[in-house]
Amino acid sequence: MTSSHSSTQFSDTISAIVEDHVMLITINNPPVNAISASVRQGLMVALDWIETSDAVQGVVISGAGSTFVAGADIKEFGQPVTEPTLPQVTERLAGFNKTIIAAVNGAALGGGAEIAIACHGRVASGRSSFGMPEVKLGLVPGAGGTQRLPRLIAADLALDMIGTGRTLKSAESLEIQLIDELADEDTLITRAKNASLKPAAKRVTPHYDAQKFANIKTAILRKSRGQNAPLKAVELVELSQQLDLSQGLSQERQIFLQLRDSDEAKALRHVFFAERSAKKPAMLEGVSPKDIKILGVVGMGLMGSGIIVSALNAGYQVIGVEQTEEAALAGHQHILSILEKNLQSGRLNTDAFERQKKALTIAGSLESLGVADLVIEAVFDDFNVKVKLFQALDQIVRASAILATNTSYLNPNEIAAATLYPQRVIGMHFFSPAHIMRLVEVIHTQYSSLEAVASGFAVANKLKKLPILSGVVEGFIGNSIFSAYRREAEFLLEDGAYPHEIDAALEDYGFAMGLFAVYDMAGLEIAWAKRKREALNRDPQLRYVKIADQLCELGRFGQKSGLGWYQYVNGKREIDPVVTELIDAARREKNITPQSFTKEQIQQRLLQAMQTQGNLLMQNKIAASASDIDLVMINGYGFPAHKGGPMFAGGMLN
Ligand code: 3HC
Repeated sequence: MTSSHSSTQFSDTISAIVEDHVMLITINNPPVNAISASVRQGLMVALDWIETSDAVQGVVISGAGSTFVAGADIKEFGQPVTEPTLPQVTERLAGFNKTIIAAVNGAALGGGAEIAIACHGRVASGRSSFGMPEVKLGLVPGAGGTQRLPRLIAADLALDMIGTGRTLKSAESLEIQLIDELADEDTLITRAKNASLKPAAKRVTPHYDAQKFANIKTAILRKSRGQNAPLKAVELVELSQQLDLSQGLSQERQIFLQLRDSDEAKALRHVFFAERSAKKPAMLEGVSPKDIKILGVVGMGLMGSGIIVSALNAGYQVIGVEQTEEAALAGHQHILSILEKNLQSGRLNTDAFERQKKALTIAGSLESLGVADLVIEAVFDDFNVKVKLFQALDQIVRASAILATNTSYLNPNEIAAATLYPQRVIGMHFFSPAHIMRLVEVIHTQYSSLEAVASGFAVANKLKKLPILSGVVEGFIGNSIFSAYRREAEFLLEDGAYPHEIDAALEDYGFAMGLFAVYDMAGLEIAWAKRKREALNRDPQLRYVKIADQLCELGRFGQKSGLGWYQYVNGKREIDPVVTELIDAARREKNITPQSFTKEQIQQRLLQAMQTQGNLLMQNKIAASASDIDLVMINGYGFPAHKGGPMFAGGMLN
């Protein structure tokens, strides 16, 4: 411990200052004040000191910078537990003989929220937020959260927070009495200090709505899809209503430690760090993006509208362009309807709604794009259409503007080569619906300048998306792996597995829906049209499964026509003997003796197909890392996050 006249340093990360008989403890562990061993030790030493000090009558704990505490230090999770543990710290805080108030200056997440609720009261600023996101890391709160939160707020509200991991803003935290007072940022510490000099308020057991609790539990269990942590979270919150606090805390500790070492937690930790490292691609190190203020979006169909909604939300000025005034008006209407929905659901307040409406101009011709800094095209995925558009834009936009194509399957190298300044052309491959889906593949063509790529990347970040860099290959990272996976699923059909068996294996693995059910939902005709276009160039030596084509020839285009890989009776998917016969016939035609596959064998074959393709993409420098591939498959193709992605699942991380 070192001390000066005014401030005492209890560890590298814990400092304190006494004023007017109150000790203000500051947790200072940048960037997010995660609770490392040094934080835990420092807090314990500070509490030892305060316990014996007559000069200190009250205690306030706050975080340095803009975060209160973002939780336990996730980097320590793979290592042996060191004392003092976080539960020991929160236990000490809760039972401390002087009033301790948390002055919550920013995000209080996981162990940070547990510290705050172990204190005897909470004063929070408007920028504070509370959440227990441990389930997203395959964990449950492990420092008293599952037991103390349902004693502080109603158990149904606690279950919602702990079981879903959602974060509450300050107003909601106040409404449910998770915090006692809301303060301005500049009066936060003073208000907390004053509160710490009063005896801790006695709390009444919060009202608890059993029906609501049951509904929330059902929803959490339904969404868990093979994930263990949410089930354990529910179990522990239920136990909080049955056991006394100390028994509940010891149950929580046991379960936390088991989960901490589980495959699920390892996979989700991998995803957490993969997302952070994807934000800093080596290729763009030291490259400054351009300052992009005005975005142009050409094509205001489903995709274009979704991109526009995201861009408005991010604060861009947006110019939406369609081929005609009527089409532009229709696109405008669609966008307004999404904004209105966001207003009604509370996602937008009235000010933001009005601001976003004003930030959008629409036009029925390209000329208005002369002022745009970046133009994203989301028009029909046809090479000639896109090239013509970019050539027209070459005559309209400034030389410094960037052009981004949202193509899924065309070759952006060829599109770029046909333009005046190929170095300013990049790909930005959004996923539909673009205002909801986080993934954006940012494509560097063979011509793209690093500045153009960095600018596309920065824009996607500002749109709150998850940008992943990809080189040029058919389908980029995502669709190229998806194609390999789809092809293998069709081989499996011929080899002996039926669609419902493959789907059951995938759903059992954690996919929300099996592949064939997804096809039926999306419709089979677009992929059929693409296969027909490709038929002429297809290598006849390669194995080709024609069952999907045969379904389309029979007019079975999926759920909307009531028939596809399944038949839909009153909207319910059922095995269709017609499809079974088609598959059997395909096997007979190729003289394949059908084998029977276990779920695990099906899962393995599909995973392996993804991994082989993933490795190829890495060898060819299309994907920068295995963890980027995992993020693409999790965020664009429904791969279960708690399995870590195909590359993680195959032990293929670099
Ligand atoms: N432990 C270790 N490092 C952490 C961390 C944590 N809990 N939270 C964030 N970091 C690191 C990130 O890895 C990143 O490091 P880098 O710069 O080296 O890549 C840096 O802090 C900044 O993080 P972000 O890039 O995510 O910054 P943002 O400003 O976008 O977000 C945040 C900040 C909202 C705090 C976000 O980081 C976050 O959600 N963190 C995780 C919160 C969480 O899951 N807490 C629960 C932990 S488990 C726990 O507490 C168990 C307990 O119950 C016992």
